[in-house]
Formats: sequence, structure tokens, C-alpha cells
Amino acid sequence: MTVIPVQEELRDYAARVEARLAALIPDADPETALISEAMRYSLLGGGKRIRPYLTYAFSRLAGADPEAALDFGCALEMVHAYSLVHDDLPAMDNDVMRRGRPTCHVAYGEANAILAGDALLTHAFSVLANTAAPDGAVRRATAELADAAGYAGMVGGQTLDMLTEGKTVTRETLVKLQRLKTGALIRAACRLGCLSGGVFDGELYTAADRYAEKIGLAFQVIDDVLDGVGDPALLGKSVGKDKASGKTTWLSLLGEEGARDYATRLTDEAISAVTPFDKEGRLAALATLLLGRNK
Ligand code: IPE
Ligand code: IPE
Ligand code: MG
Ligand code: MG
Ligand code: MG
Repeated sequence: MTVIPVQEELRDYAARVEARLAALIPDADPETALISEAMRYSLLGGGKRIRPYLTYAFSRLAGADPEAALDFGCALEMVHAYSLVHDDLPAMDNDVMRRGRPTCHVAYGEANAILAGDALLTHAFSVLANTAAPDGAVRRATAELADAAGYAGMVGGQTLDMLTEGKTVTRETLVKLQRLKTGALIRAACRLGCLSGGVFDGELYTAADRYAEKIGLAFQVIDDVLDGVGDPALLGKSVGKDKASGKTTWLSLLGEEGARDYATRLTDEAISAVTPFDKEGRLAALATLLLGRNK
């Protein structure tokens, strides 16, 4: 099996995503340039870009046109950026640092941060609608992204996150909450990769779902661990916030070692789910990279 140097490939792909995202948000009107500036502020200049990279990785297995996969990934990244802008708002996590810079509401004010988030979300669907992809792929991708972002997906998870603040929740509830708040967009990233190549169901699609389910949860387990024990300079965001706001996390439930063991088990399961398709080892290497990340 060829082993892909996934860290380098992710870095190079992130640069392509960055350039494409920048091109997708020109100013609409000089009078409202403040909002396009706030959108670019939150979207560009940082971020690991793991969701577009997942779209890319599955698009390769689905034999997609790279340009279609790139635009599907960029649409997803806009939704992700919006989710972070709103997640950081005073009414939600009240965070002042993101990607090593002041959060959007600190830099632009709360009203503009709400609007910039709204605009990133809606613009994502304009990008999707304008992507040249196989017949039916845009329609399917639109439904997938809307469902993953909305009340049955990320917004639902964020709702549970707010409702359970200050309460101790069970493991089952935490899995449910995180499957929605983080897992849904990660699953959409994998699905959009398949869809960009015209793969709408079947074994690859099912394997993508299984992989996404496992790495989505592992990703949030590590996010929880890093909030407790990570280096804010590397993470680019404040640490200790989950504990201070009374959130149940994998760190509070299992301790660092227990949480890391859990993430390792999930990562192994993710890798097994895609082994028949992952001939280049990209998905296995990515899952391992995300498990060991420090940012
Ligand atoms: C942060 O996501 C929010 C979570 C869902 C845990 P990322 O860790 O992917 O954030 P960026 O895009 O790299 O900044
Ligand atoms: C946020 O989870 C997930 C989103 C839907 C944005 P967190 O609140 O744990 O993300 P961070 O730690 O602020 O990046
Ligand atoms: Mg949050
Ligand atoms: Mg947060
Ligand atoms: Mg977090």
C-alpha cells in the first residue's frame, strides 16, 4: 500500500481551499463591505480545513472532478465557519479568541458577527447551487448540507449543548449531542465527497458514513481533551472554557487517559470501516493524524 504523506497533502490542499474561498467572497457592494470583510475575517487565514479535505479524500475514491469536490468542500467550510462565529458569541460560548485572533464579534461587534454568520451560511448554498457536478449531485448535496447544518444536525447539537450546560449528562447523551454538533458536518463532508463523483449510495457511501461516524466523535473527544490540557498558543483559542461553563465533556467523564483511549478505539474502528476502499491509505493516515493533533 502506498502511504500518502497526509500532513503535507492536507497543508497543500488547505492552501487551495483558502484561495478558492477568497475568490468566492468578493465584496457585493461598497456600502456593505463591512460584512464581506467580517465573512473573510472568519473564513480565511486559519483553520485546519479538515472538512474540505475529507470531501477531497472521498471524492478521489468516487472518481470526481477535483473542481466539483473543491467547491462542495468550500461550501461546507463556509457552514463550518458560520457555526464557529455563532458558537463564539456572548450568548453561546462567549469566546474571545479563535484561530489565534480575536473572535468575529470582538473584532466587528455582535450584530455584525450574527450577520456575517448568517451570510456565510446562505452563501454556502449559493456556492453549492453553482457547482458543476454530475446529474442530481447538487440537489443531493444541498439536502445533505442543509440537514447536517440545521435543527436535525449541528443546530440541534448546539441546542443540546446549551440545554445541558451546568448539568452532568450521561455518556449516551454526550454521544448524541456531539454526533449532532460536530459529527453531522463531518459526515456531510464525507458524503459530499462521494456525491461530487456521482456516488449516491452503495458500499463506498455506507463506508463513508461509518468512517465519518467514528472520526466525528473521535474529533470532538480530542477537542474536549485539548480544551482541558491543550496549549492555547497552538490551539489559537482559550482553554479551560468547558470546565468553567459547566459542560460535561469526555475529559470530565473519562479523564485524559480514558478519553484518549476512547478516541483511539474510535479511530481504529474508523480505519477498519474504509479499509477495502482506502488503497492509498489516505483516510487511515488522516484519522491517525487527527487523533494525535495538538491544535
Ligand atoms: C472546531 O473545529 C469546532 C469543533 C467542531 C470541534 P476545528 O477544530 O475543525 O476548527 P478549525 O476549522 O480547524 O479552526
Ligand atoms: C462547537 O463545539 C461545535 C460547533 C458546532 C461550532 P465547541 O464549542 O467545543 O468548539 P470550540 O471548542 O469552541 O472550537
Ligand atoms: Mg460550543
Ligand atoms: Mg465553543
Ligand atoms: Mg471545544
